[in-house]
Amino acid sequence: MAKEQTLCVIKPDALSSKSIGGILSLIEKTGFNILALKQLSLPFEEVKVFYAVHKEMSFYNSLVQFMSSGPIMAMVLEKDEAIADLRKLMGATDPKKAEPGSIRAVFGTDIERNAVHGSDSKASASVEIPFFFSMLELIK
Ligand code: RTP
Ligand code: MG
Repeated sequence: MAKEQTLCVIKPDALSSKSIGGILSLIEKTGFNILALKQLSLPFEEVKVFYAVHKEMSFYNSLVQFMSSGPIMAMVLEKDEAIADLRKLMGATDPKKAEPGSIRAVFGTDIERNAVHGSDSKASASVEIPFFFSMLELIK
């Protein structure tokens, strides 16, 4: 099976709760190769672009506020079936409904402050990866 790439973001709640190490550990144990990784703070206007797909949703303003409230960690992960496997490892959007042992079950707080983002399709990954990383940063 061909290797696939996906974008993962550790959200501000998980940086404030010192959960980077725990989350990266689960990611590595699941067999992902971390191709690129960086910490940054996304300005409000950039988060609006990143989550533009949700602009009609009731939670959009709150989500944009939250995602620009502090530093995040963006990474490109690679493995077979990376997109589906990351979504499985993340667990359901609402940590209360997330599978035991999944990142959101362990590190999430509520449906908004849910510790991680992962691309939900090949089309999303192909837009989200270059949003954060240049081609040169992905050459290994
Ligand atoms: P993500 O895009 O961050 O990987 O999360 P997801 O696919 O599981 O969930 P999605 O429906 O795409 O929602 C994006 C993010 O918006 C926040 N959210 N808040 N208050 C609410 O009802 C609500 N619903 C979603 C979460 O931070 C969610 O991850
Ligand atoms: Mg989503």
